[in-house]
Amino acid sequence: MTVGSAPGVTSLPAPTLPAGAPNLVLTGLMGTGKTTVGRLAARSLARPFLDLDAAIASRAGCDLPAIFASEGEAGFRERERRVVADAARLSGVVIATGGGAPLDRDGFAALATTGTVAALTATADELARRLGDGAGRPLLAGQDPAARVGELLAARADAYAAFGAAVDTTGRTPAAVASLLAGRTGPAGPTRLRLVTADGTTHVIIGDGAIGSTDLRAALGGVTLAVVVSDAAVAETHATGVVAALRDAGIEPVGPVVVPAGEDAKRVEILTSLWDAFRAGGLDPSGAVIAVGGGATLDVAGFAAATYARGVALVNVPTTVLAMADAAVGGKVAIDHAGAKNLVGAFHPARLVIADTATCASLPGSARREGLAEIVKAGLLASPLVLDLVADAPLAWSVEQSLRVKIAYVAADPRDRGVRRALNLGHTYAHAIESASDHAIPHGAAVAMGLVAAARLGASLGTCPPDLAARIATVLRRIGLPASPPALDEGRLAAAIGADKKRAGGASRFVVPAADGAALVSGVDPRDALAMLGA
Ligand SMILES: NC(=O)c1ccc[n+]([C@@H]2O[C@H](COP(=O)([O-])OP(=O)(O)OC[C@H]3O[C@@H](n4cnc5c(N)ncnc54)[C@H](O)[C@@H]3O)[C@@H](O)[C@H]2O)c1
Repeated sequence: MTVGSAPGVTSLPAPTLPAGAPNLVLTGLMGTGKTTVGRLAARSLARPFLDLDAAIASRAGCDLPAIFASEGEAGFRERERRVVADAARLSGVVIATGGGAPLDRDGFAALATTGTVAALTATADELARRLGDGAGRPLLAGQDPAARVGELLAARADAYAAFGAAVDTTGRTPAAVASLLAGRTGPAGPTRLRLVTADGTTHVIIGDGAIGSTDLRAALGGVTLAVVVSDAAVAETHATGVVAALRDAGIEPVGPVVVPAGEDAKRVEILTSLWDAFRAGGLDPSGAVIAVGGGATLDVAGFAAATYARGVALVNVPTTVLAMADAAVGGKVAIDHAGAKNLVGAFHPARLVIADTATCASLPGSARREGLAEIVKAGLLASPLVLDLVADAPLAWSVEQSLRVKIAYVAADPRDRGVRRALNLGHTYAHAIESASDHAIPHGAAVAMGLVAAARLGASLGTCPPDLAARIATVLRRIGLPASPPALDEGRLAAAIGADKKRAGGASRFVVPAADGAALVSGVDPRDALAMLGA
């Protein structure tokens, strides 16, 4: 298949991402210690560390001297330009760039605006001593290291000075430089994001301990009574913490009102019992509903808030990775009906979302991993570099990347009629896998498999590189998620894709990764599409 022969390929370009936590960008000549210092600073700031030279080598499948040998410096710089652009779509990362990266002033400026830049430096003598014979450094190959370092320092001084204060590392240990930089960056508090649509503004707070550190009185200005809704699994723990925080803020708490755990809560009987509890608790349009739990709790409590008294303010406190990364933001609330998921619902955006990642500590490992599948999906829409980081990154960072993507797409298309469909990346496959396995394969695992299949489909259509599927599979395996399904009945898979097709108005549609985000593919022969699952 090629793009030319597939007129059903529609681009779903990624909108501009909102700023998140600032990046700390380290640059400077070889030998200044960018990588060692960056790694140490990242550790003390509890942030992921990204070495752009290592990312270039990993993408190329060979080391930098081999890239210089086969493509010359120009080929390397082109690769570097692309990876710097991808890094500029990340937030909250400590990034070490190659020493020549600031020479591309425009490209580096885009990265510099995402945070602060520290240009590490040292005297020519010290650098020559640290670099020794220059082995493995293509720019020193065949030259006297001391003389060449002097030349490079002079040639690049302006470029480094353009982007940030120089930090002299002469006579300092990497640990001392790292602690200087970490001290300047300050402790990592919760990250704040904001989603603005015609339906209202959602303030989002992300971080370990965010429930306790949020000023609820300020965030819920004017609210004097709030009903807390949660499921039994978190009622005694996280919901009780929310009740205490409300009391401390001078807001009268009611509840927790407990709903059944999981999908069983998304029924009309639970909805009516919530309306009853709201009435008994004295909730009126000046009050708020605070939903504490997984996506199912948020969906039913949100729908109750959307409909009670023609709509009261909603606060979401997600306690699963999936609910933090996806369900809590975006305005969709719903219950299931007549065997159909989310058949009856509304758009009712939360006024405030507190994604306290510490609440996920009580989740079983499988639920945590399953949620990460949605974060890998969001990463594919944000920047390919998320794949390099997500398996080892702190959860709060991963949730932040996911929510930046979700916020960008929802802001661009609040009612899910256009570009927001990119968020269904891999999901046509996932729904078919869940259905054909009688839901023995859970949603997150099915999304993981669906992402790999979607990348294979995209590669066959020329929308994404041929090696992307393998790179996604490697990351999924590191997380502990499956990359391909067990043998499933082809007829049932095809029937499930057919059911999706009916819902989509007659054409089976797949969202696949693309260079600028994602693309919507329609009119693919179901047999071609299904072949991607087993390839
Ligand atoms: N509205 C949206 O935009 C949206 C988006 C994605 C998914 N969803 C919905 O979200 C639901 C799935 O969400 P989910 O994966 O969070 O599952 P879930 O809400 O069913 O929760 C899964 C289980 O985890 C338990 N749990 C929750 N938090 C816990 C914690 N911190 N510690 C221990 N146990 C905990 C729950 O009691 C439940 O048994 C589906 O109903 C789906 O339709 C909605």
